[in-house]
Amino acid sequence: MKILTIMGSPRKGGNSDLLLDAFLAGAGEGGAFREKIAVCDLKISPCTECLACETTGECVIGDDMGEVYRQLIEADRVVIASPIFFYGLPGQLKALIDRCQALWYRNREESDGTGERKRSGFALLVGATRGKNLFTGSLLTVRYFLDTLPARLEGSLVYREIEEKGAILSRPDALEEAMKAGRTFAGGGGPRTSTGTSTIL
Ligand SMILES: Cc1cc2nc3c(=O)[nH]c(=O)nc-3n(C[C@H](O)[C@H](O)[C@H](O)COP(=O)(O)O)c2cc1C
Repeated sequence: MKILTIMGSPRKGGNSDLLLDAFLAGAGEGGAFREKIAVCDLKISPCTECLACETTGECVIGDDMGEVYRQLIEADRVVIASPIFFYGLPGQLKALIDRCQALWYRNREESDGTGERKRSGFALLVGATRGKNLFTGSLLTVRYFLDTLPARLEGSLVYREIEEKGAILSRPDALEEAMKAGRTFAGGGGPRTSTGTSTIL
């Protein structure tokens, strides 16, 4: 089984990165093949809405997204780890997601369908404040991004009041929870929503 993880923060070694590493450590216990990409290492231009992909299922922009498409197509499970920026996902990660419109067109019939999805995804999100709806928009974005593969959002862990680089390290409960979630996720799934902190989906 291949698990593709996407680290969406521009800050390497930051909270999303550390949380994802804990998740990956748990996921690795069962021997799953894990791949981690940091969006900040990639050059991914925003979607220009040329809609060439509507007929071909292929994006005409030549950049690092070509490799990401390949990785997404090969993955059995996909994990997004990200901070919240202005109640949404950071621009670099959102550019990657927007470019998956090509996959949506390619998989249109399956993506629209209500049938059982073999592939699944997971979201790990952090934010500095305590806003009630802090993760609402981003969880919806991840859910509909997964639709393009198509995959379903298996679960999510979200953490409020995490701000400075490394602040998540002072929440060993969160890291332990992420490790356990990784273990469950790699083992074939788990609760649709697994979080001690909160979620909307
Ligand atoms: C540009 C920017 C926008 C942000 N917007 C929000 C926000 O809307 N709500 C919030 O709670 N935190 C916000 N934050 C704080 C980050 O989500 C928080 O510091 C997070 O822990 C960073 O995670 P990272 O270390 O993985 O990058 C913002 C930070 C930046 C740099």
